[in-house]
Amino acid sequence: MRTRAAVLRGIGKDWEITELDLDPPKAGEVLVRFTAAGLCHSDDHLRTGDVPVRFPIVGGHEGAGVVEEIGDGVSRLRPGDHVVCSFLPVCGHCRFCARGMSNLCDLGALLHDNCLPDRTFRFHGGGEDFGQMCLLGSFAQRAVLSEHSCVKIDDDLPLETVALVGCGVPTGWGTAVNAGGVRPGDTTVVYGVGGVGINAVQGAAFAGARHVIAVDPVELKRETAAKLGATHTAATAEAARVMIAELTRGVGADQALVTVGVVTEQVIAAAFAAIRKRGTVVVAGLAGRAEKTIHVPGFELTLYEKRIQGALFGGGNPFEEIPRMLDLYRAGHLKLDELVTSRYRLDDINQGYRDLLDGRNIRGVLIHED
Ligand SMILES: NC(=O)c1ccc[n+]([C@@H]2O[C@H](COP(=O)([O-])OP(=O)(O)OC[C@H]3O[C@@H](n4cnc5c(N)ncnc54)[C@H](O)[C@@H]3O)[C@@H](O)[C@H]2O)c1
Ligand SMILES: [Zn+2]
Ligand SMILES: [Zn+2]
Repeated sequence: MRTRAAVLRGIGKDWEITELDLDPPKAGEVLVRFTAAGLCHSDDHLRTGDVPVRFPIVGGHEGAGVVEEIGDGVSRLRPGDHVVCSFLPVCGHCRFCARGMSNLCDLGALLHDNCLPDRTFRFHGGGEDFGQMCLLGSFAQRAVLSEHSCVKIDDDLPLETVALVGCGVPTGWGTAVNAGGVRPGDTTVVYGVGGVGINAVQGAAFAGARHVIAVDPVELKRETAAKLGATHTAATAEAARVMIAELTRGVGADQALVTVGVVTEQVIAAAFAAIRKRGTVVVAGLAGRAEKTIHVPGFELTLYEKRIQGALFGGGNPFEEIPRMLDLYRAGHLKLDELVTSRYRLDDINQGYRDLLDGRNIRGVLIHED
């Protein structure tokens, strides 16, 4: 089978639209027709080289679609099923899965080569094998996926919207609720209101934070945060610091959540300074692999018992969190339709990423034609 896809051939290159050969599903795999894919900042980290991967690669790790064919031994999915894809595969049996930390599943080791769990590739073109980002490749119209990446969802959910629940939504929500442990009455500050950060705002508000301070230099981001749960907004970390000091009578925030597009030493320092004794900084955003972004006074770390916590997929279990997010969406507690600020055709993907970098979107969504 042939399929169109947006691929990256190396660091610093633009996304290229090309047609690839796609193998049929092997055992434990399914053929999915992607209907929509979210434009998450992490794909841009491949382009800049921040996140090292093998090239060439089909981009896209936030997606939803319809199962068209299943390979041998697939028991949980059937042709016609609607799925949201988890950007982290979950085997269910490794040491981390067995302990209920399936966001840390050992299959994550494949996220450099981005081949399927049997270590071979399904996309091919011009004599080369193409990886698929996070074992997905939702910037392809069709892809063959491990069933470990597919969460079956109800047929009546709008695929274009719920695609966001494959990455940005549970990542942001869980950064606040799971990794940050927001409790009723808390003061939570969120640095960076993109597709991840807006859901940290929603999660903190839903968990009962009394003050949710959203920090972003872009006005659209601050306005959107204010509509979706932020009680205060600030254009700079310094303005937020003053606000937090006033709101908490100098005590500091309970959590500082770092969801900026590219994490810097400055934003970590601001987050660390903003929290109270035994408060938590959660870092969900990424920077270059070799970048040392965490420079904080150890004095405060020890004597104020401050914590710094990483969060992958918001620290939650994908097969639990994705259905949970969809239930909250149905019940009206989680806004998703409001997060989609622009829709793009596959051919316009470079424009989509320019818009992301220019701060024009909360989340841009690529809609596949068929
Ligand atoms: N840990 C995970 O599991 C996980 C999952 C998905 C994405 N990510 C990462 O999370 C980050 C956010 O992704 P996104 O798709 O929401 O990105 P995005 O580009 O859509 O949004 C980032 C936002 O940060 C703002 N920003 C930039 N610098 C800032 C600063 N110093 N202070 C305040 N705001 C600032 C930008 O204006 C923008 O609104 C990226 O690094 C991405 O790779 C991590
Ligand atoms: Zn993502
Ligand atoms: Zn596992």
